[in-house]
Amino acid sequence: MPILQENVSLKPFNTFGIDVNAHYFAEVTSEADLQEVFNNPIAKTQNLLILGGGSNMLFTKDFEGLVIKVSIPGISYQVDGNAVSVVAGGGVVWNDLVNYCVAEGFAGIENLSLIPGTVGASPIQNIGAYGVELKDVFTSCTAFEIETGQMKTFDYAACQFGYRDSVFKNELKGKYIITSVTFHLSKTATLQTHYGAITTELANRNITEPTIADISTVVADIRVSKLPDPKTIGNAGSFFKNPVISKEEFETLVQKFPDVVNYPAPNGKVKLAAGWLIEQCGFKGIVVGETGTWKNQALVLVNHGAASGQEVYNFSEQIINTVYAKFLVGLEREVNIL
Ligand code: EPU
Repeated sequence: MPILQENVSLKPFNTFGIDVNAHYFAEVTSEADLQEVFNNPIAKTQNLLILGGGSNMLFTKDFEGLVIKVSIPGISYQVDGNAVSVVAGGGVVWNDLVNYCVAEGFAGIENLSLIPGTVGASPIQNIGAYGVELKDVFTSCTAFEIETGQMKTFDYAACQFGYRDSVFKNELKGKYIITSVTFHLSKTATLQTHYGAITTELANRNITEPTIADISTVVADIRVSKLPDPKTIGNAGSFFKNPVISKEEFETLVQKFPDVVNYPAPNGKVKLAAGWLIEQCGFKGIVVGETGTWKNQALVLVNHGAASGQEVYNFSEQIINTVYAKFLVGLEREVNIL
């Protein structure tokens, strides 16, 4: 079969389960495949979309261009004393990597259990959960430069990580395809258990000295209890980012809404729980046509089966406008809209 296919449905390739077509589609399992795709003159003339697990995308229309699904496999590691360097292919399913590391006794990513998506996509938005972010364990990544076909290595500083952010979402957006990521993990676990939900759940289970596997299990159970499984209900995790506001804005807000859920953020700023803001507007668990918010977590928008991307998008606009009218806080989407 030629590597470039035409008119391929993207429904199996996005966790929202939106049924749109890609004009051209190629699944790549190696750097050589990438070279082959870009040796084809068609590829050079197309709009490109690089897809990992499709877990952070909302398609609102057919994609009139070339979709490249990265399926580069492989996990390997090197041990040096207690330090472990793990290299994983860009197409490895993130949670498969977590399970592999937990089984080997390598600590560092157990708090990131059950996050959907692939290894190659993980640095792009610096995935994070339960007190750990990808940047905490990131060493470097290799990437294919689309314009030149050259491979390049990005170290920690070059990635310019921020909250759900990196250089790959900014200056280098659309310029590179991440083919592998190297992580620094450890055989001696310094476990991150300070996040409220983890502390509570460990206490409920009478676990006083948690292992790496305990943390992974607890995090996975918390996620399952709060977040819908994309295999049964289409969704892309948190649809919005938690907004970060200035201290002054926060002081005005807290006068009017003393219960506003908030966390300290860098540079004296304050991070708000978007899920709380949305819930306060009466949106938690509501069903609007084929879309709505999840019953246990208002920050997650869902597809009840036959939602179009446009329908979900319109609902997200309604949420943004209502939250702004009530709190004067602007929500930004975390999910990419296409
Ligand atoms: N809350 C509500 N109502 C809701 C949801 C949340 O009041 O419907 C309030 C509660 O006070 C809760 C607080 O918000 O204690 C925080 O909720 P949660 O612990 O579920 O975390 P989050 O801030 O809503 C973030 C990440 C998640 C990540 C969790 C756990 C973002 C945008 N989301 O959600 O990441 O799993 O923390 O660390 O930062 C994702 O990015 O797709 C994602 C799921």
